[in-house]
Amino acid sequence: MKIVTSLPELRLARRTLSGPVGFIPTMGYLHAGHISLVQAAKAGCSSVAASIFVNPTQFGPAEDLSSYPRNLPRDLALLEAAGVELVWTPTQEVMYPPGFQTWVEVEHLTRPLEGGLRPGHFRGVTTVVTKLFNAIRPDKAYFGQKDAQQAAVIRRMTKDLDFQVEIVVCPTLREVDGLALSSRNVYLNPAERQAATVLFRALSAAKAAYDSGERAAEELRRLVREIVGAELLARLQYVSCADNDTLEELETVSGKALLSMAVLMGKTRLIDNFVIG
Ligand SMILES: Nc1ncnc2c1ncn2[C@@H]1O[C@H](COP(=O)(O)OP(=O)(O)O)[C@@H](O)[C@H]1O
Ligand SMILES: [Mg+2]
Repeated sequence: MKIVTSLPELRLARRTLSGPVGFIPTMGYLHAGHISLVQAAKAGCSSVAASIFVNPTQFGPAEDLSSYPRNLPRDLALLEAAGVELVWTPTQEVMYPPGFQTWVEVEHLTRPLEGGLRPGHFRGVTTVVTKLFNAIRPDKAYFGQKDAQQAAVIRRMTKDLDFQVEIVVCPTLREVDGLALSSRNVYLNPAERQAATVLFRALSAAKAAYDSGERAAEELRRLVREIVGAELLARLQYVSCADNDTLEELETVSGKALLSMAVLMGKTRLIDNFVIG
């Protein structure tokens, strides 16, 4: 496994990879969810590249950039064991050298949900993913369904800007009690960790209602509010039942709907979603 930091080194190493090349962008502190993306890439590609970069431009000023968990030696061991050929670990200076002033922005899709609570977040994501795509030039790139809006935004950007990359979205990996794996789960204290199952419980209840015939989107949102409301340690930031493609809120669920939510568990922000229909 080759590990490179600078852009010239990355470009040299990229030339030695046989195609199709699969790519997994990450912010490190890897867990089994990331590794499931690597496995999907191994299955669908001849070589696999990953990046580890805690991207400062997608964090708000009051967010957890400085405390975001990091463990590079462990991450590299996990990627090597998973069979990754190339890892890019750019520094902030490599990614955003002095004078940097060019941004990529997806309009409507970034307004609701995560975009509503995290202004500027998706501008940081789409800009860094553009730079990662331009440097790595992958044939396929792998993202997790846990970040459903991110996947939709990246898909839109890829189409709109004619990137020659296939976006593959992989299922959310969960702990046995349903909590979606996330690097941020490490922030949770034992009581919060237990209470954090409320996202999965609320989504499961709403899906059960849908499965028994409920089609009123507001009733599904109400169920989620009710279940999260009963969990003292959790504060609901939003619940949404939206069209899975446009992310516009629904009145009635007819086609595919994205049921998504964000919860604050103490200071830790958790997101999760189910696709229904
Ligand atoms: N539980 C999970 N299952 C599948 N993919 C995941 C999971 N958690 C994160 N990912 C995906 O891994 C990629 C890198 O995410 P990253 O921000 O590094 O991890 P996290 O969201 O856990 O902090 C994203 O495409 C994200 O959607
Ligand atoms: Mg993340």
